[in-house]
Amino acid sequence: MRLLPWLTNTREDKGTGYFSKGKVACPPFLRCPYGGGSLRMDGESLVSEAGRRYRVVDGVPWLLDEARVATVDRALQRQYTERDAARYDRQLRLGSLAIGCWEPRQRRRMVGLLELKPGARVLEVSVGTGANLPFLADKVGTSGHIMALDLSWAMMGVAKARAARLPTPVDLVRGDAVTLPFASDSFDAVLHFGGLNLFGDRTQALAEMVRVARPGAIVVAGDEGLSEARRRTWLGRKLLSMNSLFVFRPPFDKIPWDGIEGFELHWAWREAFYLLRFRVRGETPRPSQEDKLRQRIAEREEEAAAGGGPEGARR
Ligand SMILES: C[S@@+](CC[C@H](N)C(=O)[O-])C[C@H]1O[C@@H](n2cnc3c(N)ncnc32)[C@H](O)[C@@H]1O
Repeated sequence: MRLLPWLTNTREDKGTGYFSKGKVACPPFLRCPYGGGSLRMDGESLVSEAGRRYRVVDGVPWLLDEARVATVDRALQRQYTERDAARYDRQLRLGSLAIGCWEPRQRRRMVGLLELKPGARVLEVSVGTGANLPFLADKVGTSGHIMALDLSWAMMGVAKARAARLPTPVDLVRGDAVTLPFASDSFDAVLHFGGLNLFGDRTQALAEMVRVARPGAIVVAGDEGLSEARRRTWLGRKLLSMNSLFVFRPPFDKIPWDGIEGFELHWAWREAFYLLRFRVRGETPRPSQEDKLRQRIAEREEEAAAGGGPEGARR
């Protein structure tokens, strides 16, 4: 694989999307995750307005600073070795059968909640091995576009191979769900499944999904968490004894209520997983004073980092 497949458009590029359409410039909706400034290509890297440089590895931009990823997120990444990533799909399929579910049916139903139209641009946050990609591709078709982000390079390796087999353009970005490297109002829908409970900052992660979705877009975000009814059943008690993650409940207190409307709570996988579904409010809320202050601090840090000191040595 070439380093920057979007510089040309050959058979090898099949399965990658925006980057592969002969464009030399960086897609306009990619942003520096720290400060939000635009990015430009410089040789084989992407460079922010403040001079921060991001690597592109095997055609995938790494839009994050490892040193800024929360300790808990970094620690959890250790469980996603290449061996684990290779086994993940099989284990999940077996797990779903054990609780009486057919996984593909669950995924199709979850993707259906996004109400995607052909031609839509959809973001999957924490794409993992890309198990949802075929269902997303089925909905947005060849005129649509899928952007897929994850923190784990091992998991993304599996997703990348899967994406290459799809007719829909798919682009991958390595990044952190709590600082998404995309401009506001960029996507027609956002999907997240399976990482939310353990994100270092769940409030910020959900706020980011809302920020990058355009007004009116549907966001679906879910993870392990038994319904109250399921907790009282034999299956519920069994799941709780086998995997402590099922103890989680839908994180209602982390939802950015001011920026959303039409909230619905859905259950999936025999009520072992919650799915939060909502629309982004018609008008994008104006940033608060606090948001503006945070933005200024981030920009200043970014400038300081670009001005001197080794990469990633700020925190
Ligand atoms: C259980 S897997 C779910 C994968 C996939 N969404 C699915 O439906 O099978 C959780 C994923 O969340 C990713 N993840 C964990 N923390 C993350 C973070 N801070 N930012 C982005 N992805 C993260 C992991 O790397 C992993 O691929």
